[in-house]
Amino acid sequence: MHIIRRRGWEILESQVTPEALVLNRRGLIAGAAALSIGGLGFSARAQTVAPAVPGGAGPRNDKFEPGREMSLEKDATTYNNYYEFSESKNLWRDAQALKTRPWTVKIEGMVKQPRTLDVDDLIKQVSLEERIYRHRCVERWAMTVPWTGFPVSQLLKVAEPLSSAKYVVFTTVADKKAMPGLRGFYPFPYVEGITIEEAANDLSFLSTGLFGKPLPPQNGAPLRLTLPWKYGFKSVKAIVSINFTDKRPKTFWEEILPEEYGFWANINPAVAHRRWSQAEETLLGSGKTVPTQIYNGYGPFVAGLYDNLKSEKLYM
Ligand code: MTE
Repeated sequence: MHIIRRRGWEILESQVTPEALVLNRRGLIAGAAALSIGGLGFSARAQTVAPAVPGGAGPRNDKFEPGREMSLEKDATTYNNYYEFSESKNLWRDAQALKTRPWTVKIEGMVKQPRTLDVDDLIKQVSLEERIYRHRCVERWAMTVPWTGFPVSQLLKVAEPLSSAKYVVFTTVADKKAMPGLRGFYPFPYVEGITIEEAANDLSFLSTGLFGKPLPPQNGAPLRLTLPWKYGFKSVKAIVSINFTDKRPKTFWEEILPEEYGFWANINPAVAHRRWSQAEETLLGSGKTVPTQIYNGYGPFVAGLYDNLKSEKLYM
């Protein structure tokens, strides 16, 4: 079926140049809002998470030097993609309705012992650290932010997948009361998947915090996948199930537009999206346009994962 309806994060080629302006304008709007909220800073209003929640802090791991200036917290927490709430980028206020504690995560499928874990018990079983990663959305905006969390390889130790498991499938919560976007057209719940080899790679990260604080709901609290060498749509938010399987999953965007959003979605400036170039990206906040790098610059860590997969559509 050919779907003509344009999704919010699909930009038309004709809209490409003004995008930087749009980002700047959003910054101005955010600034104006900050002034109008009785003296309270905008970012302070965006961070309405109870202080007792764990997951916000960990020692800095400098191995993955981002080589780029950090984005502002107010930009990263007020310009979001989260279709369960809205197609608008300005959904952070609505996202505060999602109750992120108590929260359980199912470990299921091909594992030694399927079970349901409280997210805070899971956090106790891993070592939290902070990593500054670049993030590149398929829409061509980018940010650089410090995530707190733990490598997916540590989750593999907790989950104990069987040797027959080939893929890890992550599913987002579908909370009808809190998420108005669920009433729309999309095939929720949002599902994403990676191979076991990708999951075991040092770069694959599960985030529990952002800017030294527990993850805010709009960025995927309480647990979110963070895969900096793939287009941002692979980084699934608010995870409630982690399923180990030997079958490649049909992922959320692949289900909707398989000719545009594939399973692998590795970043490559030389492979254009069907409707726009991927050669450049616009930095959130400054609106500066910079060249996109293959694997978002993380090739030395991940390129080897794809040596024997040349026949696959690795870059869409
Ligand atoms: N996860 C869910 N559940 N729903 C979404 O709509 N959007 C994805 C990804 N994860 C999305 C999601 C896209 S397209 C991007 S670019 C990133 O989240 C944006 O993350 P951020 O809002 O924290 O910057």
